[in-house]
Amino acid sequence: MPWNPRRGEVLTMRGNVGDSPKLKPPYANSWRRGWFMNLFDTRPKEDRKLLFGRERELDEIERMLDSGFWPVLIGPPRVGKTSLMKVITKERKGIYIDASTCATATDLGFRLVDELQGGRVKAHIQLDFKMVRIELKTQPVNTLEKIIKSLGDVLIAVDEAQSLNDTRIPALLSVIYNESRVKMMFSGSMLRLIKLITKSPQTLGRPIQMIEVKPFSEEVSRAFLEEGLRRCGVSAEPLELAEAVRVFGGIPGWLSYYGAKRCARFSHADALKEVSATAKRVVEEEVKRLGPLEEAIVKALAMLGVGGEWKHIMALVGSFYGKQPDRKSLSRSLKSLVDMRIVEKTGERYTLIDPMYRIINNF
Ligand SMILES: Nc1ncnc2c1ncn2[C@@H]1O[C@H](COP(=O)(O)OP(=O)(O)O)[C@@H](O)[C@H]1O
Ligand SMILES: [Mg+2]
Repeated sequence: MPWNPRRGEVLTMRGNVGDSPKLKPPYANSWRRGWFMNLFDTRPKEDRKLLFGRERELDEIERMLDSGFWPVLIGPPRVGKTSLMKVITKERKGIYIDASTCATATDLGFRLVDELQGGRVKAHIQLDFKMVRIELKTQPVNTLEKIIKSLGDVLIAVDEAQSLNDTRIPALLSVIYNESRVKMMFSGSMLRLIKLITKSPQTLGRPIQMIEVKPFSEEVSRAFLEEGLRRCGVSAEPLELAEAVRVFGGIPGWLSYYGAKRCARFSHADALKEVSATAKRVVEEEVKRLGPLEEAIVKALAMLGVGGEWKHIMALVGSFYGKQPDRKSLSRSLKSLVDMRIVEKTGERYTLIDPMYRIINNF
């Protein structure tokens, strides 16, 4: 009988490996453990079957790509941007690039060449990788253009594109758009890149389309936990799940982590405690990497708990910033936090999107 994940065959730990689709060791044991169907794997997902509740986003991305647009995925950390990009790139046999350590066109070029040398995507024209690497150092943009024009109809997904900070990139993107068949997609706040693009003489605004990746609703969060726990054969009380959903606020990264602990037979209380403690550390690190005023605003919002209006933030932020910021700086920093999707603005009220940001240590 064909395998159907929706019927949850993989959970029937009784089934022997011979019953499952042709899996050979070493995967046979993973299969038996249900690893293949683990919704709570804490790495980014690469397979559509493991990406829960994102059919609408997948459809939207595909529709855009097929109509010649370049999607930019925007959303808070751990919401599933990388997972969406990896699923799409894998299905389309494209190239995935993590640009978090790329600032310049040269860096980007090297990452692209690494991927091409990995051999999963073939260039039409034979590239002399050694030469290309040398050329990238002296003429990064021309060389990148040459490489990309050699690719044909290929998707290049650039994750964490906010790190790119090179005034030559908009022109490069424009050439890619106008003179090659390559499709691009990005994730990251792109603020800097979009600024570069809108200032550039090329009319690059056209192909770029934002897609918001939002935290799960309460209902989807609960269904995600229920489904994942069912797959690993753990039962949980509805009240426990309701509490986890409330504490982790629909952020798939935290929900997955909590679910993984439950699948490893942690009690609800222990899973909650451990995930919250890790989350607090992770989030505190992230906050430290923000600019000083942004950091102070996050701390003020954390103290306000349920968020607050501009005047409430202004009243509190000085004690974290060391001095009272001027109005313009506060507005600019708040806007940048909104652009990064760390803060959300609803009406006049600003709130921290990820509830784990609200438990950071203020002192
Ligand atoms: N829709 C989803 N279904 C299942 N797991 C998800 C989903 N979205 C995210 N995750 C999990 O959450 C974590 C963070 O996802 P990731 O794609 O890295 O987010 P981002 O790139 O937005 O920070 C990973 O462990 C990933 O497996
Ligand atoms: Mg990511």
